Amino acid sequence: MKKLVDITQTSQWSKLQQHFDLLTQGLSLREMFSKNPNRAKEFSYQLGDLYIDLSKNLITDQTISLLVDLAKAANLPDAIHSQFFGDHINVTEDRAVLHTALRRDKADILEVDGQNVVADVREVLFKMYEFADKVRSGQRLGVTGKPIKTVVNIGIGGSDLGPVMVYEALKPFVDAGIEAYFVSNIDPSDFWEKCHNLDPETSLFIICSKTFTTTETLTNARLAKNWFLEQLEKRGVDNKIEAVKKHFVAVSTALDKVADFGIDPKNAFGFWNWVGGRYSVDSAVGLSLVLTIGPKNFEDFLLGFRQVDNYFYNTKLENNVVCIMAMLNIWYVNFFGANTHAVLPYCQYLHRFPAYLQQLTMESNGKSVRWDGTPVTTQTGEIFWGEPGTNGQHAFYQLIHQGTRLVPSDFITVVNPPYILKDGQQDVHELFLANFFAQTKALAFGKTIDEVRAEGTPESIVSARVFTGNRPSTSIMAANLTPAFVGSLIALYEQITFVQGIIWGVDSFDQWGVELGKQLAKQIEPAIVKDDIALASQDSSTKNLINYYRAHRDK
Ligand code: F6P
Repeated sequence: MKKLVDITQTSQWSKLQQHFDLLTQGLSLREMFSKNPNRAKEFSYQLGDLYIDLSKNLITDQTISLLVDLAKAANLPDAIHSQFFGDHINVTEDRAVLHTALRRDKADILEVDGQNVVADVREVLFKMYEFADKVRSGQRLGVTGKPIKTVVNIGIGGSDLGPVMVYEALKPFVDAGIEAYFVSNIDPSDFWEKCHNLDPETSLFIICSKTFTTTETLTNARLAKNWFLEQLEKRGVDNKIEAVKKHFVAVSTALDKVADFGIDPKNAFGFWNWVGGRYSVDSAVGLSLVLTIGPKNFEDFLLGFRQVDNYFYNTKLENNVVCIMAMLNIWYVNFFGANTHAVLPYCQYLHRFPAYLQQLTMESNGKSVRWDGTPVTTQTGEIFWGEPGTNGQHAFYQLIHQGTRLVPSDFITVVNPPYILKDGQQDVHELFLANFFAQTKALAFGKTIDEVRAEGTPESIVSARVFTGNRPSTSIMAANLTPAFVGSLIALYEQITFVQGIIWGVDSFDQWGVELGKQLAKQIEPAIVKDDIALASQDSSTKNLINYYRAHRDK
């Protein structure tokens, strides 16, 4: 990596600060729109299948140009090249960050340490597709000769959130009569609720873990294996080795550990340590998707990622909407002081997208130390959150519209729903979309005191009904809900996250912050079970809580 720039000490940062001070004096989106009838067009971009309108953000041409200057001051162009060509930009783990290699064109060659990684990627994909074709066509059956009807992905974090989000998003593409369940939490209720009613003879378990050391996943995997073998035994099947072989597969970078767990390495699908967990849904981690939506749709999904990667890599920063969206996040976090960012899908199928983004963005950029070990010099890592519209409208939109905080929001929708439903003559999706359009309009333009009075509102409640407007939003639309659209959406946010990390100087690809809790859980566990010495060594609050547990447990 090049020498780290303290971005806040650059002249580009100071210029943005001056620009901010001027722009925010009497800033009015109403005025900006009325002065420039082309504003929407000028700030809209086509990125593959995605149509992105940035015009309702608190920006002028000059803002974008100053933000791009800032990105250049942080050496973003070099950093992009380093990412795409395998430099060890994950400094604290000394690793390349090459999730873009997972979706490169099969004809590409990308050599890392003398090895063409694109060929390696295609080899695993081929193995996944071959396996999925056999399962989907009924050529590969369960141990009692029945076809597989249910896939259970056992994983957590990046080995869960991506697959479950995409499975939910692409349900209309589930086409072989195979459904998927996702067990992630070590709370045994998760396993119980999802699995106790399954038919073991038609179920396939995917143990999905990059490291194959994660306590949650390995515990759930053992629960699954025991439950499965017990059920089969009840049905008179006692060839345990063959049963596990037919019903358990693994996805991991640690194939030796997979074998130790008792899964045949032939039934293991590998990936590489240059794929971060939260960047892995397009690797073998997507096996549950290949099984349910099929190889062709998965290829389309990869194509969506590729479109964004190629665009991001090849487009000048000045016109590069991926870079601009990332820099807008910097604008809001570091200059407007925004603490959060709402992601609001107006598409029920994307209902897990905000949860997915939380790991992607917050595990990546929730850092107070830069990659060279020095403290960050400004705020990093805003909180991403959201719910699908219109549910969110009836819950938290009040705060976005009239609260004291600035919440930049991304609204995402598709033009054509997979299924058209009518309420009498009313196309219900149109009713739904009307809300998508209305919300960003209300946020941007608000409602003035005169408009409220003109409605005959009693004077005592006029101020309560005023909307200030000037609340920034981005609108993202696509014609159809397709695998490519979902792939593009993920790649867009992956690269936004990357750019923000470069500006802040953090390592967006490590996650040391999740380690301490894991270690302490291991130390505390004996105290919960029975060990009084382990209990005595706890702090008074932890001791107090464990004692409450001990006093109330039902065993
Ligand atoms: O939460 C920490 C983490 O390491 C994530 O980064 C990762 O996605 C998750 O745990 C699961 O890890 P694994 O795939 O190795 O089980």
